Amino acid sequence: MPIEKKATLLIKNIGQLLTMAGPAPRIGGSMNHLSLVENGGIAVAGEEILAVGKSDQVEGHTELAEGCTVIDARGQVVTPGFIDPHTHPVFSKTREKEFEMRVQGKSYMEIAQSGGGIRSSVRDLRETPKGILEEKTRGRLDRLLSYGTTTIEAKSGYGLSTESEIKQLEIIRDLNLVHPLELVPTFLGAHEVPDEYRDKRNEYIDLIINEMLPAVTKDGLAEFSDIFCEKGVFDIEESRRIQQAALDAGLKLKFHADELESTGGGELAASMDAVSADHLVYISDAGIRAMADAGTAAVLLPGTTFSLGGKQYAPARSMIEAGVPVALSTDCNPGSSYTESLPIVISLAALQMKMTAAEAISAVTVNAAYALDRHDRIGRLTEGFQADIAVWDMTDYRELPYHYGVNLASKVVKKGKVVVSR
Ligand code: NIG
Ligand code: FE
Repeated sequence: MPIEKKATLLIKNIGQLLTMAGPAPRIGGSMNHLSLVENGGIAVAGEEILAVGKSDQVEGHTELAEGCTVIDARGQVVTPGFIDPHTHPVFSKTREKEFEMRVQGKSYMEIAQSGGGIRSSVRDLRETPKGILEEKTRGRLDRLLSYGTTTIEAKSGYGLSTESEIKQLEIIRDLNLVHPLELVPTFLGAHEVPDEYRDKRNEYIDLIINEMLPAVTKDGLAEFSDIFCEKGVFDIEESRRIQQAALDAGLKLKFHADELESTGGGELAASMDAVSADHLVYISDAGIRAMADAGTAAVLLPGTTFSLGGKQYAPARSMIEAGVPVALSTDCNPGSSYTESLPIVISLAALQMKMTAAEAISAVTVNAAYALDRHDRIGRLTEGFQADIAVWDMTDYRELPYHYGVNLASKVVKKGKVVVSR
């Protein structure tokens, strides 16, 4: 006879429980469907969700294990733990001087081409001992978690040599083992051409293909391969070549595409069946159609446009109308977007890209899970899914974009354990 599972965690009296039950990804109008339960409750057994429904029914039908944690949400809002599908958290020095240069009128590309930007973070990372790098990264993971985020994608890309790319991916692997935040590793050796290869870029591309990709995949250090496909960085043909080699090596694909200019990166990502293409401020109409047809997720990063002082934001409304699965992310990195807060990204998505609160919440839960190819396990609160949960100090979920710039995550649960409580 099957043994009935007992609850190890019960959350009751939830004012609005956003289960996100239903299709993944959410496209078009379905991005507004939150599968909201009023007066909701959730029971968790170990790392998994056991039951979801009305508070009294969940309470009435589940047996509590000895020592079960019971949380009375007192009418607060509960969502799946947020998922941040695009971050660059492993770096040493911050770059506030560049931020100030931008405030004074220099552009991101001007700063990069004069030796700042990604290449300055590369020089710095190579010199920084692994232990220090790991401690700095850990602080960022703590902050991400405190803002209600329970899973992130984490990229390398500040090493740009085989050894230092591996150094970053090992830090991601090691922190994933000890930190409550779950990390999905992405190899980003094609983030820039490092200083020592500036006049022989083809040799750097060969190095990525012949040395880095085999080294990274041999030890299972990455699940995705990403590239900065942009004018002045890697062009379409170079991007196709590198990403084809990554696919052949068994990695799934992501792209930084059409961020600063329109180059056809969205189309390329779709044609290669990428899991996601990210940024997309300048994506063409053909690119939007290609992504919708391929089911490639668009990870939009309004915090980056904001922090670069840009006027034009990604065309979220056109993408949603065309049926592209839209996700949102912080792009947390020292250059173009230094924030660990998805709630502030939700505010920017509402104000600058005209997304509803419900669409933005779909974009950081079920659709962000889809952008990481993990929508069968996280991003929705349904029976059997991983118990990653955020409790928000508000009575209406629409407060998320509206009450901006403050942290309203009151409890965060990762794999059934309360990891943040405020
Ligand atoms: O996503 N665009 C490329 N990469 C990052 C910026 C990295 C940096 O400036 O250090 C981004 O915006
Ligand atoms: Fe990025």
